[in-house]
Amino acid sequence: MRPAALLATLVALAGCGARGAAGPRDEAGAAPGPGPAATAGPGEVLTAEPQRPGDPARGWVRLVSEGYVGCGAPRSLYDRAFGPAPARWRLPGREGAGAELPYFANAFTTPAGVEVVTANCLGCHASFLRGELVIGLGDAALDFTGDLGPMLGVGALLVGDPAARAELARLTARVQAITPHVRTRTVGANPADHIAAVLFAHRDPATLAWSDEPRLPLAGGEPIPVDVPAWWLLRRKTAMFHTAAGRGDHARIMMTASVLCVDDVATARAIDAYFPDVRAFILSLGPPPFPAPIDRALARRGQAVFDRRCARCHGTYGAEGSYQTRVIPAAEVGTDPALAGHAGQFGAPFTAWFHRSFYGELSRLEPRAGYVAPPLDGVWATAPYLHNGSVQTLAELLDSHTRPTRAVLARGRDDYDLERVGWRSHPLADARDAAAEAGIDPRWILDATAPGSSNRGHTYGDRLDAEDRRALLEYLKSL
Ligand code: HEC
Ligand code: HEC
Repeated sequence: MRPAALLATLVALAGCGARGAAGPRDEAGAAPGPGPAATAGPGEVLTAEPQRPGDPARGWVRLVSEGYVGCGAPRSLYDRAFGPAPARWRLPGREGAGAELPYFANAFTTPAGVEVVTANCLGCHASFLRGELVIGLGDAALDFTGDLGPMLGVGALLVGDPAARAELARLTARVQAITPHVRTRTVGANPADHIAAVLFAHRDPATLAWSDEPRLPLAGGEPIPVDVPAWWLLRRKTAMFHTAAGRGDHARIMMTASVLCVDDVATARAIDAYFPDVRAFILSLGPPPFPAPIDRALARRGQAVFDRRCARCHGTYGAEGSYQTRVIPAAEVGTDPALAGHAGQFGAPFTAWFHRSFYGELSRLEPRAGYVAPPLDGVWATAPYLHNGSVQTLAELLDSHTRPTRAVLARGRDDYDLERVGWRSHPLADARDAAAEAGIDPRWILDATAPGSSNRGHTYGDRLDAEDRRALLEYLKSL
């Protein structure tokens, strides 16, 4: 049994990254434009920018041992509530205070001398797939549909030591600020982009000091669903995030997770000093191989289809492969436009905050009005598909007519389908039939008509004949 409440709380705490409005960009501050060669093909090509070098092995140790979010639940409380993690949840080889913690939690000691347990990045960026923990794979089964607050309130009653109580109070204040804005409709939808916006709103950009009242207007309504990209793709990309918003120094953007509880610039700078190592670790990851036999002859036929129909946006693969980070306007790719658009919570005030803050010293948030055509390495493992996770299998991705408007999601160990490649789901009749749906937990129903959830668009596979589509699917397994 997964302590879902703990995980949801902890991962909410490490909320990562941030968006800004896809509004008019400051062209003067934009990256140098691509040369003519780089633009041959659709969309805007984003060229690489300088990154700080780092050491991957050191980065891994930092990732699973440091307190980069700045606060957590007192260890005494954590141990009483959860005890040592089951073996399959532990990270092999992790020593010290974190040895008995689950992979998604770190232990560290705060400046006040209290040992706390907190979320690390792996809560969202690692996942079990067919029974094995894959580091870097976005977790498509995280549940942010609940309320994060009550558990912490109960916890406060259990903590006697005043310093530990103070740590818990700090954590509780942050969680209470976030909770009303990040509750999702469906399991698997990740609100990290909203969490970041809320936390920006509560801080002075110049000093990072926390204020209990938000300083920026926060839009109401449910967060737009976002799917967590696999970490192993970043080594191919020049911009972070689906909308290519993450420009400039990537390590600085990643350490924005510290916006939860790091309340001064000096502490943020100390964390930033080791984030180039964390980034180097992320860039050292590769995709897991497809775990079943592949029909090589069929895949070769599929490669020809891919090179004809797909490569102009997604690049080519294999030894001679080449990929460029291309942003395709949302209107052109036709997928849900909300994340790439002017959704209130991704409005200009948040990018403006970022650029005025410590985080904006080296980095920029410049969301485009479109989506990156992502590299497809290990795409077999990264279901659900599209930026909003609205398409459950590659078979559905390659034929938009087969995508159901409403479906019941499945995320169990045996629910990953290696034939259609992705998560199994059970389509529901389009007409809402209360009787038929009685007993189905609504948090597991994916409704493509909900805000930000459309599964339309990306119809590039629709006109393939059945044989070409079968070959293409086989090829995609091999990437
Ligand atoms: C609460 C869940 C959550 C946590 C915790 C989290 N992330 Fe993320 N991360 C996301 C989501 C969601 C996205 C995609 C956002 C988007 O594109 O709009 C993302 C995107 C990224 C990307 C960009 C990947 C790409 O291909 O564009 C990187 C790199 C990244 N996160 C690193 C980190 C690091 C490092 C940490 C810890 C310091 C972290 N994340 C913590 C949810 C999370
Ligand atoms: C005109 C450019 C373009 C063409 C051509 C194109 N794609 Fe895409 N593709 C995109 C964009 C942009 C996205 C991201 C859309 C989004 O997330 O909303 C995407 C997303 C995908 C994804 C989802 C990746 C993920 O992890 O979510 C897959 C798989 C994919 N494309 C495969 C293909 C295949 C196979 C073809 C050829 C039949 C193809 N694409 C043709 C632009 C293109």
